[in-house]
Amino acid sequence: MTDRSGIFAGDDPFAIARAWLAEAEASEPNDPNAIALATVDEAGLPNVRMVLLKEIEDGAFVFYTNYESAKAREIEAGGKAAFVMHWKSLRRQIRVRGVTEREDGPKADEYFASRSLKSRLGAWASRQSQPLESRSALMAEVARVTARHGTNPPRPPFWGGFRITPVEIEFWADGAFRLHDRFVWRRTSPEEAWRVARLSP
Ligand SMILES: Cc1cc2nc3c(=O)[nH]c(=O)nc-3n(C[C@H](O)[C@H](O)[C@H](O)COP(=O)(O)O)c2cc1C
Repeated sequence: MTDRSGIFAGDDPFAIARAWLAEAEASEPNDPNAIALATVDEAGLPNVRMVLLKEIEDGAFVFYTNYESAKAREIEAGGKAAFVMHWKSLRRQIRVRGVTEREDGPKADEYFASRSLKSRLGAWASRQSQPLESRSALMAEVARVTARHGTNPPRPPFWGGFRITPVEIEFWADGAFRLHDRFVWRRTSPEEAWRVARLSP
């Protein structure tokens, strides 16, 4: 049906995404797992910011954040999100659109525990996306949570992951003369089978 081969070969889009990310890990100077995460606010105004993709599961993409942040509020209002990852060194992008759920169980605990102590305390200290009077106010909060939690802070109840289960994944690779290759996996809901199509560049 489609003439897929080479870097687009295989039927499992999560396996292809993992393979592309592994290639990018070898060639990108920084943050090969950075994604631009898009949401919409209550007025329908799009919003976008970078976050780090922490896992490509067999059926979903996982990142971590503060549940009281603007992005988390926007995600939870509609239960949907999209992201793009772009690798300048490979001249490739992956676009994902899907439905969201919290990852706030043992997996989130485990990931939180793997972070450096300063990052764990920082997560406790930051009221992400809220106005902050000054840098020194933030540092005072870091000192306060350090005194309270010491060297073994638990995962804050307001911090954890989101899992994005796609209904659409597009793989894009640069081609000569702007004749890029694009393949999209689509389904109307996560319960359905994927349909794959080649798209015009
Ligand atoms: C490369 C990069 C990676 C980032 N990774 C994360 C992340 O994994 N989680 C996160 O909450 N914010 C991350 N940030 C900060 C976000 O871009 C953003 O400033 C913050 O989450 C607040 O966004 P919001 O107000 O829209 O919720 C990252 C920023 C950059 C530039």
